[in-house]
Order: sequence, then C-alpha cells, then structure tokens
Amino acid sequence: MQAPHISIERVNKVFESDCRTVAALQDISLDIPHGQFTCLLGPSGCGKSTLLNAVAGFAPPSSGAIMVDGRPVAAPGPERGMVFQEYALFPWMTVEKNVAFGLEIKGLPAAQVGATVDRLLKMLSLGDFRQRYPKDLSGGMRQRVAIARVLALDSPIMLMDEPFGALDALTRRNLQDELLRIWAGLEKTILFVTHSIEEAIYLADRIVVMTYRPGTIKRDLLVEIPRMRDPAAPAFNALKRELGMLVMEEQQRHHNDELRMAALD
Ligand SMILES: Nc1ncnc2c1ncn2[C@@H]1O[C@H](COP(=O)(O)OP(=O)(O)OP(=O)(O)O)[C@@H](O)[C@H]1O
Ligand SMILES: [Mg+2]
Repeated sequence: MQAPHISIERVNKVFESDCRTVAALQDISLDIPHGQFTCLLGPSGCGKSTLLNAVAGFAPPSSGAIMVDGRPVAAPGPERGMVFQEYALFPWMTVEKNVAFGLEIKGLPAAQVGATVDRLLKMLSLGDFRQRYPKDLSGGMRQRVAIARVLALDSPIMLMDEPFGALDALTRRNLQDELLRIWAGLEKTILFVTHSIEEAIYLADRIVVMTYRPGTIKRDLLVEIPRMRDPAAPAFNALKRELGMLVMEEQQRHHNDELRMAALD
C-alpha cells in the first residue's frame, strides 16, 4: 500500500492571548493519499483555516505532527501551494507580474517564465487582462489570478481556503468546474476548505466534517457520486441532507457558545 501523501497525526492547536485560551484544534488525525480531493467542511470558527495553515507550515500545531511524503512540515515549502481565504495578490503588480512572481523568485529563465504565464492566463481566461492591476478586476477574476499564481508554482499539493467564498453563484460554479478540470488534468492533491455543503459535495472525493470549537473530526466520508455531479440528483440531495444535519448541530453549538459568552460579559 502506498504511504499517505499528507499525514496529520494527533494535531492540537491552542491559541493563547492575554485574557483567554482558545482550543482551536483537538486531536485531529487524517491521512490523505496522492491525488485525493478532500474538502474540510464546518461552521465558522471550527478551525478549518487553522488546520490548513498548519499543513501549509505557516503556523505549527501546539502538539502532534504533520508529514508530507514522510517528512515533517516545519515551514512553507514549494510542494504546498496555498490559495488564501482573502485573495492575497500584490496590489502593486499587474496580473502577469503576480503570476510570474513565484517563478522569478525561483530564478527561472525569462522565456520559461513567459511561456508558463501565457499558458496559465489562457487556461484561466485572463489573457486579455494581463496588464491590469488587482483593483481593476472583479472578485472572480482576482480569484482566478490567485489560482494561476499557485498553479505557476506547479506544487503537487494545493491548499485552498474558501477560495470561492466571496463569489456569485454562477462565477463560483464556473471556477469549481475549472478547478475540477485542472485537478483531473494535472493530478494534484487538493485540500479545500469550505462551509458550503453543496460545494463540498460538488467537488470532493472525500468530505471531512469538523466540529465547532475545539475543532475535531465529526465525520469522514467518501463521496461516491460519479462526476460531473448534478446538484439536483437524488443521491446529491440525500448526502446534502445528511451533511446538513451534521453541520447544523455544530452551528447550534456555536450559537449556544456565543449566548453563553454574551451572558458572561
Ligand atoms: N491567531 C489567532 N489568535 C487567537 N485565536 C485565533 C487565531 N486564529 C484563529 N483563532 C481562533 O481559533 C478558532 C478557529 O479559527 P479559524 O480561523 O481556524 O476558523 P475557520 O473554521 O477557518 O472559520 P471561518 O469559516 O470563519 O474562516 C476561532 O475561534 C478563532 O477565533
Ligand atoms: Mg477560515
């Protein structure tokens, strides 16, 4: 059997600040094989970004280990590309410079950088906008630039934190389809965070539902519906209902927690 590509072993994360301690993740263990498209699903505040940041190497866990291909993650690395919850583009750079940036840092020859940037801008329908700055783009276009920038690095692992959260429904569906095409064509391993149940079912091989604080794994299931998936199909709806119930329980816990905190103030 092939060793797991990403191995998350008994990870805990505690945030300590002046007045309080937040247990964000508790005893998370997850093995992700090569090429799997995994969605982390859960309500706001359940630790999805915290877990993704730990896998990316931006914020190490308080205890436990994260391994990629058997090596412990200690810092960000070129084999893990991240698309952030807020589009992290450089506002002072044009679209093409944003996409080229990582390649230039690597010291690749200009001709190679140019060819890669051309290919990706075309793939993501950004060719006509290459000289624009992020402020002159729509949310969907900015998000496509962020995806192009990660694809430019050609990382085998893509970590995506609610990348389509701020988009209208049609743009979101188009980008989901583009991402599925890229994933299938380039054989990436994707760890994708969302709080949309429908998005998780539409995209994922596997859905990991997290509990509200502290984030633990509530359910880990494989989506066995063939692609391209039809959100109106009975199997899609049955899974949506099942996951809806799980997420709603956690949202209720979130709500109760907020009421309790308000009462303490
Ligand atoms: N740097 C930090 N310092 C203190 N607490 C933090 C920090 N980062 C996150 N937290 C807390 O940890 C918990 C998990 O946060 P996280 O951002 O991972 O949630 P999330 O699931 O990504 O939520 P959302 O869906 O809103 O993005 C929250 O209660 C949050 O307030
Ligand atoms: Mg988040």
